[in-house]
Amino acid sequence: MSLPKDNKDSIPEPVKGLEGIVAADTNLSSVNGEKGILRYCGYNIDDLAFNTTFEETICLLYDNELPNKKRLDEMTKNIGEARVLPKEVIEIITELVGKTSPMSTLRTVVSVLGHYEKNVPLKELPPKALRLVGQIATAVAIIHRLRKNLPIIKANPAKGHAEDFLNMLHGKEPTKTQIDALNLYLILLADHGFNASTFSARVTAGTLANLHSAITSAVGTLSGPLHGGANEKAMNMIEEVGTKKKASAYIQNAFDSKQKIMGFGHRVYKVDDARKPHLKKMAKQLWTEKGNMKLFEVAEEIEKQVKDRKAIITNVDFYSAPLLYGLDIPTDLFTPLFAMSRIAGWTAHVLEQYKNNRLIRPRARYVGPIDRTFRPIEQR
Ligand code: CMC
Repeated sequence: MSLPKDNKDSIPEPVKGLEGIVAADTNLSSVNGEKGILRYCGYNIDDLAFNTTFEETICLLYDNELPNKKRLDEMTKNIGEARVLPKEVIEIITELVGKTSPMSTLRTVVSVLGHYEKNVPLKELPPKALRLVGQIATAVAIIHRLRKNLPIIKANPAKGHAEDFLNMLHGKEPTKTQIDALNLYLILLADHGFNASTFSARVTAGTLANLHSAITSAVGTLSGPLHGGANEKAMNMIEEVGTKKKASAYIQNAFDSKQKIMGFGHRVYKVDDARKPHLKKMAKQLWTEKGNMKLFEVAEEIEKQVKDRKAIITNVDFYSAPLLYGLDIPTDLFTPLFAMSRIAGWTAHVLEQYKNNRLIRPRARYVGPIDRTFRPIEQR
């Protein structure tokens, strides 16, 4: 690119999409893209996935240690008691449902919830952050209940987060497989290095803006189809394909017309996403118990057809879709569900940013014309 002379030498070449740039240190999670390994605070998620609960994962991200029984009970109780929303926030949800997407409503809810919180010193921030973990789940359930004209179901703080959410959403006790499936999903998506939404939360926190501003940024960033919005698009594709037979033509057409296939590709992973096999296994179990494997098999066929044509990895969002669908979660709640999990990582990252803050402020390279001759408006 030809650049104005005085810009050329002083500003380095930008890295598009900040690919490969390491922006900070973190103690929270590490992603090995070459080997397909994700660790939270040093623990491989293969060990955490089926052996812990979401609450244990939150303890790990907040304390950098796995909890003992006492700490876990305290965390479960605190999050349980946080699963309530001020009645004014419920009124705002009532006003918005049906007029905007659940994800937009959720972003507004997070922002409004900030008005009910005091500014507190850093050491008192974790309980405030945990309130958001509880409140986001309740907000997602209430958004759904209100748009269906169904009565709101109160949280039961004695229950685990996954179980209580499913009860608040569907109005009936979930099965053990359903609770396990949601726990697995919430654990696996809780944190993932400097993904786009976490990075935007940290950029906002880096200005010393408050927690709710940082999380509002994150929810907005997650909503895009190249990030958290991909799970909804992946499910739409699986449904549109509909039968195994149609997968080949559909995928060929997507490649021919240079469309991005949702749920595939990743900036960091060079082999399949570390979370994929666990999500796939659990989705399969849910659909087997339902006695209807049709859409799960369509998903498997799409994966095969993509891989037959291009060496492209399957990311977290692809098998998240049949897993969440298997929990009878409506497709337009998939990205809010992602937020319900990632809130653990977002809040932990914001706390980490505040503890060792420096304003995050990269530069841009100006590539437009310079030294232009100014003419007053009458002469233009
Ligand atoms: N479908 C078809 N081709 C793809 C896809 C895809 N989903 N992803 C990457 N490619 C191709 C792309 O066309 C390019 O090919 P070529 O080198 O021949 O031009 C090459 O792979 C590199 O792609 P890129 O877009 O430059 O890669 P990126 O690192 O900028 O983007 C991505 C990463 C995740 C945005 C992209 O893979 C994508 O758009 N995937 C679909 C959306 C999606 O599933 N997003 C969820 C991401 S993972 C979880 C999360 O963050 O929420």
